[in-house]
Amino acid sequence: MRYLGLSVIFALAGCVSETGEAPGEEIYSSYCVACHGKSAQGDGPLASDLPVAPADLTVLAARNDGVFPYSDVMAQIYGYPGQFHVMPEFGPLLEGPHVMWRDETGAVVETPRALLDLARYLETLQRG
Ligand code: HEC
Repeated sequence: MRYLGLSVIFALAGCVSETGEAPGEEIYSSYCVACHGKSAQGDGPLASDLPVAPADLTVLAARNDGVFPYSDVMAQIYGYPGQFHVMPEFGPLLEGPHVMWRDETGAVVETPRALLDLARYLETLQRG
């Protein structure tokens, strides 16, 4: 099992893109900024046109006893219905390479690399 964890680290190590942005940040800028905003606090240009406010993505860890809830976050993005079904489905965008990822319970889950990159980027935005 141990080598699966290592392969994830290698996969993540090799992915700073040409623009110098982390891949997760690039994906965020392309697909999420319009609603969640550059600050990720739910203040994107489309936010006021939506029936419900986009979530503040900088307090996900704070709301979960300080632990970034990877599985929940990735499930939301992957297209499990949001609370109000406003979030678009990004499943098809995330069909690229998959990596093995160990979830909070220790289970090894095959996960789209882009989704993991995106979740890792969101983790860096968490406010204490
Ligand atoms: C069309 C606007 C829109 C876009 C684009 C969008 N979101 Fe959202 N998102 C929302 C809204 C509105 C909510 C809160 C209501 C809901 O759950 O549907 C939400 C909720 C979420 C949640 C759940 C937060 C919580 O409180 O549990 C996560 C995580 C999330 N979005 C991440 C993303 C990411 C990452 C992207 C880009 C891949 C993205 N969203 C793109 C509108 C959007």
